[in-house]
Amino acid sequence: MSKRKAFITGLSGQDGSYLAEHLLEKDYEVYGMIRRHSDAESQDTRVVHLFDKGLIEADYGDLLDPSSINRLVALVKPDEIYNLGAQSHVRISFDIPQFTMQTNVVGTLNLLEAYRTICPTAHFYQASSSEMFGNEIDSDGFQRETTAMKPVSPYGCSKLAAYCIVRNYRNSYGLFASNGILFNHESPRRGANFVTAKIARGAAAINLGLQDALTLGNLDSYRDWGHAKDYVRAMHLILQHHEPDEFVISSKESHSVRDFCHAAFGYYDLDYKDYVKQDPKFMRPEELKKLQGDSSKSRKALDWEPDYNFSELVEDMVSSWESRFKTEAREA
Ligand code: NAP
Ligand code: GDD
Repeated sequence: MSKRKAFITGLSGQDGSYLAEHLLEKDYEVYGMIRRHSDAESQDTRVVHLFDKGLIEADYGDLLDPSSINRLVALVKPDEIYNLGAQSHVRISFDIPQFTMQTNVVGTLNLLEAYRTICPTAHFYQASSSEMFGNEIDSDGFQRETTAMKPVSPYGCSKLAAYCIVRNYRNSYGLFASNGILFNHESPRRGANFVTAKIARGAAAINLGLQDALTLGNLDSYRDWGHAKDYVRAMHLILQHHEPDEFVISSKESHSVRDFCHAAFGYYDLDYKDYVKQDPKFMRPEELKKLQGDSSKSRKALDWEPDYNFSELVEDMVSSWESRFKTEAREA
């Protein structure tokens, strides 16, 4: 029997790299799209190790360039499409709102059109986000598939528009197109300007004497944090479900940024209050105060459970940054 083929946009990102690894372990043929960077060394650092593990292609393309998407989708004729490519940073979406909208909304539409016209029997995964809820919370304190969505950032608005167009294509054209509504998920591969990576990196650097202080923004927002390795497993399961649908993926726990600092510095028996400073430049014009996802539907329907808890996530990130610093020091 021939292998199933997966096509991933955003291959070079945190999730793209873990998803490619997961699908290769499941014996898929994995194809991905990467963007051209002027610094060529940086464009595929998260996936370069996968070529030895069977990654087929990491071709140049861009969600804003329909010709590249049509070319790649026609070339691969995938069984499964994972649309992970996005301008994914919430605060930066206030600085580059038009690029964020173009990439996350028009880019998704470009890919849906290629899917609908070239391989309509494929299964399509859209990387939707808990940021779409904004500050809406059900009376029990959770967000779930049925919670109202009132985003509070250009990023959240873009993800809500993409979510809607995916549902619209599913209903209009009978496509197997699903939305994974994923709450925050982190890992040692998380971009260093997201808060968990910034804290993990800062705690490790301060402990090694490489840095004196760590400057953050709002310490009192709450997030539902899980591990990216667990969440890419859920993406795959969503496309194996018997019908397309919307699925919340979350840890069901909510912790503050302050809690994350406490745990990360606590790994070294340090008190974060001695090192963490605040600067308004890292605050947002409008803040999403609390996320806590109810993933009961997905856990039951997909038989999905996370392997990592909050402390294991923090430990994995801090220890990995420590190893990275030590390796750099040895190689210097
Ligand atoms: P990430 O690390 O920022 O990766 C985003 C990827 O999208 C990168 O490979 C990036 O390429 C690519 N990209 C950006 N603009 C593009 C464009 N115009 N055309 C093609 N590719 C483009 O994000 P992530 O954490 O892996 O998240 C994956 C997806 O899940 C994103 O859609 C994100 O919005 C969504 N999501 C993430 C979370 C989370 O907590 N991580 C939660 C919910 C939803 P470059 O490296 O070249 O910039
Ligand atoms: N980035 C950042 N940097 N955030 C900070 C900082 C800082 O120095 N200091 C405090 N924070 C706070 C933010 O204000 C926010 O309340 C919280 O930390 C988390 O910020 P991020 O790590 O940037 O993540 P996010 O929640 O805004 O967005 C992530 O999760 C979404 C799902 O809810 C991203 O991965 C999105 O792509 C994803 O959709």
